[in-house]
Amino acid sequence: MEFNDLKQTYLSCSKCPKLCQSRSQVVFGSGNPHAKVLFIGEAPGAEEDKQGIPFCGSSGQVLNQLLATIELSREDIFITNTILCRPENNRNPEKEEVENCRDRLDRLIKIMQPKVIVTIGNFATERILKKKGITTLRGKVFTTTINSEEVKVVPVIHPANYLYNGRNPELFESMKRDFQVIDSIVNIKKEQKKLM
Ligand code: URA
Repeated sequence: MEFNDLKQTYLSCSKCPKLCQSRSQVVFGSGNPHAKVLFIGEAPGAEEDKQGIPFCGSSGQVLNQLLATIELSREDIFITNTILCRPENNRNPEKEEVENCRDRLDRLIKIMQPKVIVTIGNFATERILKKKGITTLRGKVFTTTINSEEVKVVPVIHPANYLYNGRNPELFESMKRDFQVIDSIVNIKKEQKKLM
């Protein structure tokens, strides 16, 4: 299955009854589907649900700033979420909802074959690495096997944490260091240029 087929299939997904009620649209993902770096967040929020683009609200602005520190833009990467639909009042995704979206994410990874997966926050990290505790996992490089392929995974703090923490400058500095780790394991700009 190709990227566009996968997208078309999931744009009308009806596996999760509650999410079908709370979403106004399925937010499949945005960016470059040929990118070597795949970012995975938690779930669309209100703005994402309105615009149909992941991380287009206030968390997204922080993410864009962090990407800029390693000279990346949203066109250099692809971003999706652990689940594709907005939960009511931004509640946490339920286990069953994460499971219902499992095949979609596995298939996306199979099609994209990213070199690095960046998991943003606890939900994406647990989904990909089966490990809990973002504060100890963040900024470390893991190697895991997905669809029989080895892929590197870097968990990072969710930008929403930084916003909830009143934009603590020290926290932002440590988040920048985690992005340096992403930069150090793959020089993405060069990779992208070679593909052009
Ligand atoms: N938070 C997420 O985890 N994903 C989004 O798309 C937006 C905010």
